[in-house]
Amino acid sequence: MKKKLIAGNWKMNGSTVANAALVQQLLEGVNQVACDIAVCVPAPYLAGVGALVKGTAIAVGAQDVSAHEAGAYTGEVSAGMLRDLAVRYVIVGHSERRQYHGETDAVVANKVQKALAAGIVPIVCVGETLSEREAGQTEEVVKRQLAAVIHTNGHCISEIVVAYEPVWAIGTGKTASPEQAQQVHAVLRTQLHAATAHSDRVRILYGGSMNAANAAELLAQTDIDGGLVGGASLKALDFLAIIAAAA
Ligand code: 13P
Repeated sequence: MKKKLIAGNWKMNGSTVANAALVQQLLEGVNQVACDIAVCVPAPYLAGVGALVKGTAIAVGAQDVSAHEAGAYTGEVSAGMLRDLAVRYVIVGHSERRQYHGETDAVVANKVQKALAAGIVPIVCVGETLSEREAGQTEEVVKRQLAAVIHTNGHCISEIVVAYEPVWAIGTGKTASPEQAQQVHAVLRTQLHAATAHSDRVRILYGGSMNAANAAELLAQTDIDGGLVGGASLKALDFLAIIAAAA
């Protein structure tokens, strides 16, 4: 069985003082954990949080990476820079990036490529909006999003992590039911299986209002290999409870 991965996505939250307090509480609670743990923090805090968790069970991740290698791209952060800071994971194609920054499937695929080339594990987000779900397009949408990544990255996709995040469940308190999530995860698993002989290595996380109360049931599903946690990852006790549910 794959080791589960619980990744916190702090989104645009935090401060030097708040981060130190949160990380300290997490470190006190994660003794002898049986799953992989990451916190994906805002870019300005990558080095600081990296120093706080160095040598511990918690890895640091970024929330985005440039689709370019280097050069005149003001404000962007390259995969090489993330590697320089010993960043282990990077979230790519989060629905908030797709929605507010116009990231297309092709851009997401290129970002994944840059992360993989730098030895950083991309956590590739896919997920349908409410109107897409209501129109019966869920499968079609997530398959299209993942297909772009597979097309650009070929057999290297065995090194990625996928996160299924139904857009309607993000920050809304509405969670996909374990059955709804499992159904989509199974579709993604089949797609990965057709693309690489090592699909069994790929972890598929669920994200969208995962919390201390619903984590165990979601994580018990056959094809749910972890969680990408937003709001609840900012509260140490809640995040630790989700980690415990994954162990
Ligand atoms: P919430 O857990 O706050 O719904 O956010 C999920 C998410 O977007 C994680 O990337």
